[in-house]
Amino acid sequence: MRLWLRGLVLQALRNFRGVCGVHGPPPPVPAPQIMATWEAINLGKKPVPEYFNFAHDVLDVWSQLEKDGHRPLNPAFWWVDGTGAEVKWSFEELGEQSRKAANVLGGACGLQPGDRMMLVLPRLPEWWLISVACMRTGVVMIPGVTQLTEKDLKYRLQISRAKSIITTNSLAPHVDAISADCPSLQTKLLVSDSSRPGWMNFKELLREASTGHNCVRTKSRDTLAIYFTSGTTGNPKMVEHSQSSYGLGFVASGRRWVALTESDIFWNTTDTGWVKAAWTLFSAWANGACIFVHELPQVGAKVILNTLTKFPVTTLCCVPTIFRLLVQEDLTRYSFQSLRHCLTGGEALNPDVREKWKSQTGLELHEGYGQSETVLICANLRGMMIKSGSMGKASPPYDVQIVDDEGKVLPPGEEGSVGVRVRPTRPFCFFNCYLENPEKTAASERGDFYLTGDRARMDKDGYFWFMGRSDDIINSSSYRIGPVEVESALAEHPAVLESAVVSSPDPIRGEVVKAFVVLSPAYSSHDPEALIRELQDHVKRMTAPYKYPRKVAFVSELPKTVSGKIQRSKLRNQEWGR
Ligand SMILES: *[C@@H]1O[C@H](CO)[C@@H](O)[C@H](O)[C@H]1NC(C)=O
Ligand SMILES: *[C@@H]1O[C@H](CO)[C@@H](O)[C@H](O)[C@H]1NC(C)=O
Repeated sequence: MRLWLRGLVLQALRNFRGVCGVHGPPPPVPAPQIMATWEAINLGKKPVPEYFNFAHDVLDVWSQLEKDGHRPLNPAFWWVDGTGAEVKWSFEELGEQSRKAANVLGGACGLQPGDRMMLVLPRLPEWWLISVACMRTGVVMIPGVTQLTEKDLKYRLQISRAKSIITTNSLAPHVDAISADCPSLQTKLLVSDSSRPGWMNFKELLREASTGHNCVRTKSRDTLAIYFTSGTTGNPKMVEHSQSSYGLGFVASGRRWVALTESDIFWNTTDTGWVKAAWTLFSAWANGACIFVHELPQVGAKVILNTLTKFPVTTLCCVPTIFRLLVQEDLTRYSFQSLRHCLTGGEALNPDVREKWKSQTGLELHEGYGQSETVLICANLRGMMIKSGSMGKASPPYDVQIVDDEGKVLPPGEEGSVGVRVRPTRPFCFFNCYLENPEKTAASERGDFYLTGDRARMDKDGYFWFMGRSDDIINSSSYRIGPVEVESALAEHPAVLESAVVSSPDPIRGEVVKAFVVLSPAYSSHDPEALIRELQDHVKRMTAPYKYPRKVAFVSELPKTVSGKIQRSKLRNQEWGR
């Protein structure tokens, strides 16, 4: 932490004032003109400039606005860990540190614009520094989760031909084990206080690096990042995003969905699955808001609630799984300092959770929907009438429709694929393609639409109702049943902490609905047979009776991804003996 000490001392006075600034009413700073311009571009009302670089055109502008007194004295980045250590950067300090990091990438690492770098770090401040340093140097970042195995690493390094990787001690041995098979990999950077043979020490290099750096002039269409996304079959694909796709694609949703302004402090607890952590980075910093990070590897309900009590977080985003845990607590016992806007995404939010959260905290929960390929495409924007259980309406500038297998737009009420119009014009804030995989890119499109692979309905008011991934839809005696509807019905029963609904083989019906249920503690000793009948009757009452789970199993936990999404496919495969 020595590195940050100077900054911390320098910040002490300013932070004190900054935090006080958050307590009072937000200062009357109008959205700066320049941000209004970026928002207009994001919404398709102005043309995309030929050149764009988020570090230069957005972050450095905020740094200047901050210097000129046009931004409240909030930090731009605020990191805390379990021991009470903190790192706080203003936009100016973020600029200075990231320029030093850019000099490490361009200097010691010898990286050139267009070179690729894998970024596999836990929630350390260096993750944000390297992200910005990549923008400054034009280096393409490839984020990965820290849970990657040797096989995953080898596949990713080989196919992406990354020249460099930055990680910590826990993953370094695995990288070493496969380095020989990855000829493109030239430099390995370690974020650690100790050294390791064959690795350069990032912290040491950063300490010595110069703060002078000229940002590379990137074109809007140049590559910013590559994300690996796993489908249900085959190897993960490389999703390519341009500088303008992510850099400008979150300006409007950051303002309208996340409702961020320059006096906000935004905490997204969801970012262990780093692949989409960039969403938080771009929506917060585009709008001059502060990113708050809690380093704890395990984010439990109590930690979240205490953190909201202790720190002036104004805006919170968690996956539905976490909100399910939070509403189990007695929320009236907590008095949140500054919380005023809450969001969720990543999987469907059960109406029951939203209602409980709202009745106990007085705060609405705004669900949004998007994928690694897209930006935010559907949302319950700030101020919009929310229909419980719906993921909101198409988020501008996207034309989102329910389409059939040929890409034809279906009328309201009909079930189909969620599609985003990509013809005649592909939105600029959208992935370019699956890199080196034109077949997959072509296969993701039908007619004028990109198909997300998710099934939903749109009502006559334009609200989208999520049913599940295509593979998750249950086809029982020709009835099509989305797992989300059944899970939401189950969630309304007090016995259900959470559930996952999948198809299960049945000799007569082909397949039937099976619910895996985690019971809330108060019900764990109830008679299982009676409880199953009760839950089945409950679902029959709450939704169309044919959707009720004919099979119910009580389990102690559900399989989840690192970012907290329920893995229905695991349970389904188990049912079908695959
Ligand atoms: C929070 O982070 C997760 C994953 O990192 C992302 O999917 C989600 O969209 C983020 N939420 C917001 C409001 O940016
Ligand atoms: C659903 O199952 C029935 C037979 O039970 C079959 O005829 C039909 O094609 C299936 N539909 C889909 C979309 O898989």
